[in-house]
Amino acid sequence: MFLQNQWYVAAWDHEIGYDPVSRTICGIPVMLYRRMDGTIAAMRDACPHRLLPLSMGMREGDNIRCRYHGLLLDSHGQAVEMPMRGDDVNQSVHCPTLTAVERFRLVWVWIGDANQADESALPDYWMCEEPGWVFDGGLYHVKCDYRLMIDNLMDLTHETYVHPESIGQSELLEAPIETRTEADRVIVRRWMANVEPPPAWRGPTGAGGRVDRWQICNFIPPASVLIDVGTVPAGSGPTLDDHPVRSFVVDFMTPETETTCWYFWGAARKAGDGDHRTGTDRTKTVQGRVFMQDVEVLEAQQKSILANPDMKLQAYNIDAGGVRSRLLLQRLIKAQRDGAKAEKTREAAKAH
Ligand code: FES
Ligand SMILES: [Fe+2]
Repeated sequence: MFLQNQWYVAAWDHEIGYDPVSRTICGIPVMLYRRMDGTIAAMRDACPHRLLPLSMGMREGDNIRCRYHGLLLDSHGQAVEMPMRGDDVNQSVHCPTLTAVERFRLVWVWIGDANQADESALPDYWMCEEPGWVFDGGLYHVKCDYRLMIDNLMDLTHETYVHPESIGQSELLEAPIETRTEADRVIVRRWMANVEPPPAWRGPTGAGGRVDRWQICNFIPPASVLIDVGTVPAGSGPTLDDHPVRSFVVDFMTPETETTCWYFWGAARKAGDGDHRTGTDRTKTVQGRVFMQDVEVLEAQQKSILANPDMKLQAYNIDAGGVRSRLLLQRLIKAQRDGAKAEKTREAAKAH
């Protein structure tokens, strides 16, 4: 059961072009393509006739023709030509559509009641499109429950063991963490004062003195973790807002099924003087390598969870962020379920 009436990331903007793309989001197969005017069309990836995936079909202008018997649908899912050319178009032939928007360099689809799709409900990932900032990243398909990935990103002590050669350091296991739940998110904050920078942050020469390092992880429902990360020369104090080197790790874990997800990862950072493409490419390469290490661990963890149904996940102190994130998610899902039940009861009462 996934949280409904939410925006989920379906794709990077550059992934969606003329040819249809199929992507299952929260258990729903969705086909996406770009109309001639640049806007995004999204509909169920199943032909209303015999359910062949529409994404196997052919584009004809803004329309899509099914590859099986040639039913032609417009970009709003409406039939415009029947398989038998001489047949009148049956106006009731329609493929359900989804609302899609393009923001923050990503394509989002609304999962839930289409009538409630609300663009203003998109969380503000301003750093992904802010002038003077650069944002780039990648996509991994991961064979794990998206919540395992949230657990992973809300507990960065794992960096010490999973990413020792890049962003891990033993101080991660020593610095106290502060965890709190707000109305719309869970925050885990870690401040490491006066430490050696981790290997990936030592600069090309490995030079540089001791630093204060921070990690502020935000779980933002339904499925993203935004991490404010950085270092300042040791003793500078917590000057998060005005320090020129500021960056965010931006992660969206869109559920595909109960045990697989689409992991959109990236980094957004304030472009410094002389910042250019190679800096962004280097960050992306390092990040891609680091996250692949997580994928390896998480897929093995998921397999092990399925292979050991009699054993339960345990939570230690380090897991507070993940535990609270799951609780927040559960609470929202329950509220939604209760709301739906109450609505049904009201309707049943009206019908009598
Ligand atoms: S399955 Fe699509 S036209 Fe028949
Ligand atoms: Fe990691």
